[in-house]
Amino acid sequence: MAKRVVLAYSGGLDTSVAVRWMVDNLGVEVIALAVDVGQAAEDYEVVKARARAAGAIDAIVVDAKEEYAAEYCAPALAANALYENRYPLVSALSRPVIVKHLVAAAATHGADAVAHGCTGKGNDQVRFEVSTRALNPDLEVIAPVRSWGMTRADSIQYAYDHNIPIAATKEKVYSIDDNIWGRAIECGEMEDPWNTPPAGVWLLTRPTATEPVEVVVGFEAGVPVSIDGESLSVLAVVQRLNALVGSYGWGRLDMVENRRVGIKSRETYECPASLALILAHRDLEGICLERDVQREKARIEPRYAELIYDGLWFSPLKEAFDAFIAETQRYVTGEVRLALAPGSCEVTGRRSPHSLYDYGLATYEADDSFRHEDSAGFVRLWGLSVETWAGTQGRLHQQ
Ligand code: ARG
Repeated sequence: MAKRVVLAYSGGLDTSVAVRWMVDNLGVEVIALAVDVGQAAEDYEVVKARARAAGAIDAIVVDAKEEYAAEYCAPALAANALYENRYPLVSALSRPVIVKHLVAAAATHGADAVAHGCTGKGNDQVRFEVSTRALNPDLEVIAPVRSWGMTRADSIQYAYDHNIPIAATKEKVYSIDDNIWGRAIECGEMEDPWNTPPAGVWLLTRPTATEPVEVVVGFEAGVPVSIDGESLSVLAVVQRLNALVGSYGWGRLDMVENRRVGIKSRETYECPASLALILAHRDLEGICLERDVQREKARIEPRYAELIYDGLWFSPLKEAFDAFIAETQRYVTGEVRLALAPGSCEVTGRRSPHSLYDYGLATYEADDSFRHEDSAGFVRLWGLSVETWAGTQGRLHQQ
């Protein structure tokens, strides 16, 4: 049995109740660890005080924003990672960095277990547990929310009875998870997939800007490094684009997705920066990647996104894909111009010192350098097999 546990602490109702519940029911010491991946408007002094009030022997906050941007968001961007072709993996991507810090804190503080506040129906439990076991198979993983059998009302009562100061009320109907890569909003009336998401659920994509604007995003070896020529960290690029692109009301998703546990789930997301960056990055690859590399990469991208979604960030296949993707990104350096207008974000230009776009080959003007004489024989041989078929079996078809 575990004696000391590091809990992934959000400061919300469930993880606050989980602190006290584990102390009382499992007889463990609890260390609360909050990992800052850019959640909106958290006051971490309040979060720490709440963890202590709930019974934690220690409360720690780690600022992982730069690390998350550079080591998790940037590789996902290099892979143009979109789960089921749409979702840029907001929550899925943050879990491995949170687990990395949980496992490190367990070692530093002599804990023999880690804990999370996920339910048994979602993807996040999978990500927390598989990632923990990948990093340290000796740690026990405790999932109090999965086993305590309390409803939301029970949890609120439990917090009240144990003097745990929580902000949650019965009116809080949405389950929200956010970080710099975007924001996920589920539950409430959206559990009926036919219902239009209420206007009030959107936070990052409230349309306030009216004047169209252009913005140039610079990349170096696949990593976003500048906006309008100003050098920035990956984190700063993402933060600026969230504010800018979001102000045009662009970057929303409304979808029903397949969870790892077999449930179809209606989710809404707002991901202005991540979706704009993937749009720009993929476009730049269009001029920087040789045809076959580009096509083969496009085949593995959906698989890479599934690995992230399914909790396999720390896995040998993901590592192998990383090596392939890193090789493809060597020359993905250049700039992409995005045009923003209310409700839209479009690529209107791209350039690169390593561009494979050859004007002489592409042009229809006088300075054409393409060897036209090569085409006739090439095309003839390209179609030879079909031509042969047409003259024999194909002819039989027509009769
Ligand atoms: N469905 C998304 C995912 O699995 C978002 C989950 C959001 N988590 C939450 N606790 N609201 O990645």
